[in-house]
Amino acid sequence: MKEKINIEKLPKHVAIIMDGNGRWAKAKGQNRLFGHSAGVETLKNILRCAGNIGIKYLTVYAFSTENWNRPQDEVSGLMTILLDAIKSEIEEIHKSDVRINVIGDIQKLPQNVQSRINDAIELTKNNKGITFNIALSYGGRWDIVNAVMDIAEDYKQDKINKTDITENLFSTYLSTKNIPDPELIIRTSGELRLSGFLLYESVYSELYFTDVYWPDFSEEDFYKAIIDYQNRERRLGKISEQLK
Ligand code: IPE
Ligand code: IPE
Ligand code: MG
Repeated sequence: MKEKINIEKLPKHVAIIMDGNGRWAKAKGQNRLFGHSAGVETLKNILRCAGNIGIKYLTVYAFSTENWNRPQDEVSGLMTILLDAIKSEIEEIHKSDVRINVIGDIQKLPQNVQSRINDAIELTKNNKGITFNIALSYGGRWDIVNAVMDIAEDYKQDKINKTDITENLFSTYLSTKNIPDPELIIRTSGELRLSGFLLYESVYSELYFTDVYWPDFSEEDFYKAIIDYQNRERRLGKISEQLK
């Protein structure tokens, strides 16, 4: 690759919509679960790569609130793949100083998946490397509605006043509290939408789309996305001249 990543201008938080596992498998004459298993391999690789270059937060969209509507055998197959992945990778993840966090409606997940997740979070909670944030049974609307309910409860109990409800306070009621907004969101597989990912947090994210299916997404593709991000001018409402 000609152009190199500028380490001084790294995004703190990169979020990825890992899409295209099913189509990747179909193109190979395989079933969809084969694609999901291949997707786990890609994720291991990209997590390591993100940690190595110094990214502080990596959020991945692993399962959306709408994905519950997929055929039952795909949903249960995905849960098994998820469970096996945590089991087999947790030691390595912990050794690499990765901190695991999960966002989403995890009450809906099977009990054994929930307890594995909680163990993984507990085990890695003091790690100082990259935060690996997994969006599971997650939807941006689910998160916002939840935040509103919690705010209503705190208001009722006189813990907050109406005028306390600022954009900043609101974000502390989201599942992503303590995590900065993602500067860069990547979606693979050629789909040009966010599908409910980080609805509130993505207002000023740079969006990067690639046709590559997630199982084929390589380190090189990841660097390409970061370099593309680094070549953009993030004006945040201002004009170019003000950024100088
Ligand atoms: C993304 O791949 C993974 C999940 C949504 C769990 P898909 O399963 O959506 O793959 P395509 O989009 O059908 O190719
Ligand atoms: C979005 O992918 C969710 C995940 C990647 C987990 P989908 O494949 O479910 O998205 P839509 O429904 O095509 O937008
Ligand atoms: Mg898809």
